[in-house]
Amino acid sequence: MKRWLIGLLVACFALSMFGSGQLEIFSWWTGGGEEEGLLALIELFNEQYPDVRVINATVAGGAGVNAKAVLKTRMLGNNPPDSFQVHAGEELTDTYVITGYMEPITQYLKDWGVYDKFPPSIMEICSYKGEVYSIPVNVHRGNVVFYNMAIAKEIGMTSAPRSMDEFRYYLQKAKDKGYIGLSLGDKDKWEAGHLFETLLLSTYGPDRYNKLWDGSQSFDHYALRKAFERLASLVPFFNSDHAALTWQDASRLVYEKRAFANIMGDWAEGYFKTMGWEPGVDFGWFAVPETQDTFMVVSDTFGLPKNAPNRENALRWLQFIASVEAQDTFNPIKGSIPARMDADYSKYDVYLQWCLDDFATLALSPSIAHGSAAPEGFATAMNDVVNRFITTLNVDQAIQGIFFAAEDEDYTIN
Ligand code: GAL
Repeated sequence: MKRWLIGLLVACFALSMFGSGQLEIFSWWTGGGEEEGLLALIELFNEQYPDVRVINATVAGGAGVNAKAVLKTRMLGNNPPDSFQVHAGEELTDTYVITGYMEPITQYLKDWGVYDKFPPSIMEICSYKGEVYSIPVNVHRGNVVFYNMAIAKEIGMTSAPRSMDEFRYYLQKAKDKGYIGLSLGDKDKWEAGHLFETLLLSTYGPDRYNKLWDGSQSFDHYALRKAFERLASLVPFFNSDHAALTWQDASRLVYEKRAFANIMGDWAEGYFKTMGWEPGVDFGWFAVPETQDTFMVVSDTFGLPKNAPNRENALRWLQFIASVEAQDTFNPIKGSIPARMDADYSKYDVYLQWCLDDFATLALSPSIAHGSAAPEGFATAMNDVVNRFITTLNVDQAIQGIFFAAEDEDYTIN
């Protein structure tokens, strides 16, 4: 065979092994902690595939508040990115799978030898009718209170409050000392919805809360009233400018020692760490009181849209994020635990060790605000109701709002 032909064949083989061309990854990870995690992931991908040009397509806004709308327009216009961040659960299935926009990837997971490497509870919400549609890159915990340890010392909090009464006691003490008790930044609305869903969990308990999503538990229960009453009891501890702030701004108030605590998913852990804070030294944490028995699950996943322009590279990306190496690079920065069960747990800090233990032993409940429990229509309506409630404190009106939202949606988990 001619030399040049051999050379050409070798080059073609090398290109098919290592890839070339481009890869567009779409997400909303632009802020403290999130961006660092994503960039570390892309860097590692590029070490393995140096000839693939990664287009890091991001649309800012926590919880995908803006990105989701842009993505939907692109998907509807048959202009999908090669792969995109999507929450496991209804956000994936209701919005993209049932509507026919995604390719099943079950067989790839089997070919790559990773099909059984993820917890069944997470794989279930990445699947629809027996086929897997996305790969979980992490598991975040939603029901966490993060607090400033210096303030905790000043107010004499030596152990985590276990009841709402105890929690409010410390919030009051912090307030008496001139601090914001509980910071909130609900500029994008979902942040208040996020806080509220942890209160729903505290009043319904994990069994009843989980049954809300298959229809076997009605919202028409005193736990709903109680959740709104709990929220009302926390409002006096909020910063007055909460409607102008984002989740990062609210975390920053804790970091700047202006607020004692903040209820947020543990992407806030990633945020604190990128600000130079150390878990267990500068900031502490505990489960939202009366939800200690539950891990509120938020899982970021990536899937394969039909007509991905660079399908081969999209598959390379999916195989890559399914690897232990990628998960152990991303998650310690992001403030989440790996979805892979065989990850190297020694790479995770003291906070994430706490999460790893709790994830393995507690009841798991899906988040509403982060797309797992209910379709987007319900989450959006809930966020509106909660934001209105924070100014009106009208419990009856808020309960009616949730009833209407629930009637409008079929939020059965598939
Ligand atoms: C969640 C997402 C997290 C984090 C957070 C704030 O919805 O799952 O990874 O990005 O929003 O933006």
